[in-house]
Amino acid sequence: MRPTVYIKDLSQHVGKEVILKGWLYNKRSSGKLKFLILRDGTGYVQCVVFKGNVSEEIFESAEKLTQESSFEVKGKVREEKRAVGGFELDVIDLKIISIAHEYPITPKEHGIEFLIDNRHLWVRSKKQVAILKIRHRIIKAIRDFFDQRGFVLFDPPIITPNACEGTSTLFEMDYFDLGKAYLTQSGQLYAESGAMALGKVYTFGPTFRAEKSKTRRHLTEFWMVEPEMAFYNLDDDMDLAEEFIEYIIQTVLKEMKEELKELERDTTNLEKVVRPFPRISYSEAVEILKRKGVDFQWGNDLGGTDETFIGEEFDRPVMIHRYPAEVKAFYMKRDPENPKVALAVDVIAPEGYGEIIGGSQREDDLDALLFRIKEHNLPQSFFEWYLDLRRYGSVPHAGFGLGLERTVSWICGLDHLREAIPFPRMIYRNTP
Ligand code: 4AD
Ligand code: MG
Repeated sequence: MRPTVYIKDLSQHVGKEVILKGWLYNKRSSGKLKFLILRDGTGYVQCVVFKGNVSEEIFESAEKLTQESSFEVKGKVREEKRAVGGFELDVIDLKIISIAHEYPITPKEHGIEFLIDNRHLWVRSKKQVAILKIRHRIIKAIRDFFDQRGFVLFDPPIITPNACEGTSTLFEMDYFDLGKAYLTQSGQLYAESGAMALGKVYTFGPTFRAEKSKTRRHLTEFWMVEPEMAFYNLDDDMDLAEEFIEYIIQTVLKEMKEELKELERDTTNLEKVVRPFPRISYSEAVEILKRKGVDFQWGNDLGGTDETFIGEEFDRPVMIHRYPAEVKAFYMKRDPENPKVALAVDVIAPEGYGEIIGGSQREDDLDALLFRIKEHNLPQSFFEWYLDLRRYGSVPHAGFGLGLERTVSWICGLDHLREAIPFPRMIYRNTP
């Protein structure tokens, strides 16, 4: 039953007969000829049905095929420089597997809401296939990067008893007799326990934020990769972050040329993403904003448009460090040289893609952390296990989180995160 040849491998079968299986992407007729574009997930190939070469029955089958009908086709592979993918198939035999009903997504333009309503079908279209393949390659690059550098994958729980990144964006649920539980916002706190056990770890999985903001940069369910390293300070953390981003971008540029071309992505700016990245303090970022005429008070958090303004100043990602402690999470270590600021770093992508990484050196002092937990009105009892990490051999440590969909979006040049994940979840959408 299963195919023995896929479209992507046709170059190995030139001059030979093959059987391909897939779906009808498009069709064109011209008298005695039918041109069927077959797609099988690995590529596209034009299948040429010539009336003189096949039986009446086969020619009629080709006639019957509607957009997205599934079929099996036998033919001889011919090199054809001008054709999509560089090959054509001269059809000898054709079997219909299933005739598709009238397909809702036609080559004409559709509104975005209609397309997302049909996301389960939309993923078949050329552009979406290219995005999904790039997403896959990015995920592999992420894993390769950490695996090659001695990190251990450490899987945190999804159901958690407390907040990690602040209580305002928690998804809540009833958890049997134990009261409320929440969907995780980040695996970081657990990753810290992993770092104390294994030295260098990373978590990689879905995380959840009940984001009330309807922006193009926010999903309520998104994937995050979070490395956490024992004996790393903020500088070490930034070194790793820039090496990591450079690796992802350069790998995708090298290996996903065809897909980036399909997306008509101008890669000039991506090619510039090489180390070192500029590093500026939050205070310097505020100076840039003021110079650009933005009315901005030291102490406020940088918003999406502020990040875009700052990002525009540089031709590669910029690392902004040492934010006012007030706007950052409880677990971040204060700068011993200026306790007003936290040893935090955000990495802002160029081309208006905003924050792709948030990270920090963690508070490793038991008393300081206890104080922060109280100051943030967090329930200390839920954090006792986390405080234990400071009771039993505490060490300086740091880590960061990279948002997968923001990275996919940036690399693919998308204008909204909804196309960067198979089934996007947003404040106003949880279907299909
Ligand atoms: O800056 P955030 O909130 O950092 C953390 O969660 C830390 N615990 C990470 C760590 O130090 N281990 O989120 C990290 C990244 C952001 O920079 C962004 O790329 C992405 O996660 N992100 C989102 N992506 C899509 N939709 C959302 N609602 C997102 N919120 C954050
Ligand atoms: Mg952040």
